[in-house]
Amino acid sequence: MLPDRPARDTRARASELQQAPRPASTTVATHKVTVHDRQRGVVYEFVVPEDQYILHTAEAQDIRLPFACRHGCCTSCAVRIKSGQIRQPEALGISAELKDQGYALLCVGFPSGDVEVETQDEDEVYWLQFGRYFARGPVERDDYALELAMGDE
Ligand code: FES
Repeated sequence: MLPDRPARDTRARASELQQAPRPASTTVATHKVTVHDRQRGVVYEFVVPEDQYILHTAEAQDIRLPFACRHGCCTSCAVRIKSGQIRQPEALGISAELKDQGYALLCVGFPSGDVEVETQDEDEVYWLQFGRYFARGPVERDDYALELAMGDE
């Protein structure tokens, strides 16, 4: 008969795994990220491993940057790249055209090297990305559609 073993706390085990150091053979390069927060008049410099999101890494260092969805969709965390490059394959909120123009989303952005960025003007990227859908003048009233909608209530 086997001796009784104490029950293992799986949460503690998960924590151990998350904090386990990487083997030396999988060392990840780190890069200096500089963010000019134009709204607050502050410049932040911090180091980000190239396999980590810039926004998340900043927050882990008590640096507060703009965000909302954290999933690359809303453009609240958008920045203009002044120098360097950001890899952002999950950035669904901005088009390839805007990426080519130097915009990036920090919530889903990885530094490809040292990078310097500046925060956007309020809703700048949102309007560049979606404004064409709203900038066609006032919406025409559709009495027939309104009548149908009222009939459903
Ligand atoms: S926080 Fe929404 S796109 Fe980054």
